[in-house]
Amino acid sequence: MTAQLIDGNALSKTLRADVAQRAAALTARGHQPGLAVVLVGENPASEVYVRNKVKACQDNGLFSVMDRFPATLAENELLAHIAKLNADPSIHGILVQLPLPAHIDSHKVIEAIAPEKDVDGFHVANAGALMTGKPLFRPCTPYGVMKMFAAHDIDLKGANAVVIGRSNIVGKPMALLLLEAGATVTICHSKTRDLAKHTRDADVIVAAVGRRNILTADMVKPGATVIDVGMNRNDEGKLCGDVDFAGVKEVAGYITPVPGGVGPMTITMLLVNTIEAAERAAQA
Ligand code: GUN
Repeated sequence: MTAQLIDGNALSKTLRADVAQRAAALTARGHQPGLAVVLVGENPASEVYVRNKVKACQDNGLFSVMDRFPATLAENELLAHIAKLNADPSIHGILVQLPLPAHIDSHKVIEAIAPEKDVDGFHVANAGALMTGKPLFRPCTPYGVMKMFAAHDIDLKGANAVVIGRSNIVGKPMALLLLEAGATVTICHSKTRDLAKHTRDADVIVAAVGRRNILTADMVKPGATVIDVGMNRNDEGKLCGDVDFAGVKEVAGYITPVPGGVGPMTITMLLVNTIEAAERAAQA
């Protein structure tokens, strides 16, 4: 192995210690930070993510509520529940786990969340603020990836960065954050004709498409930084990312593992965003 591992668990531990301290300080002033997590339906992956988010709150001194609804929940009932959470002063962050059942318009639901409680950073007001360079909340996964670059002093100024994936949750905000940091950014995705042509020239690659082995060793420039946002299962049912880790780790300069890479950072940045929301509310 030539690549240095970027350990999301270790970095999360450091960042969560700061979160716990800030949560305790807010609680001592009568403003315990609170997160509401809303889950509709029974998507098994979502159940795991949501459980981990609630546990991370409990472990670090944040108050959390988990609101579970059946897949048959009507859209207007979900909107009414969000209105209640918007008005609840004990709740500083609201997270509606995606995907939602097909009969619910997720755009409408996200737009119903008060922007100052939108700790996912998905509301158009927050997405727009990110686009124009003054974000209130940065979406948790790309924000966590930026913390990984910073922790390892990976210089993004002038770097060629390739983001594989164009989702609102990861790909698009990731590209904007890299751009803000001074990288030259290319966004590739499932329809890109010659992916390797782009990745071979990249100093930094972020893979976020949700397809195993989308990035193999022959597609990576020696010494490049490779961030794997994928969460897939291999033929044996084991968790794996989008990157062929065994091959790419022999070529890359830095690489994130799956599990133990970006996953814990996403949850850590959700805690950070919730703390920031609570600090702003306490100041108001
Ligand atoms: N589904 C997959 N990732 C996320 C996320 O970061 N936030 C929400 N709300 N749903 C998700």
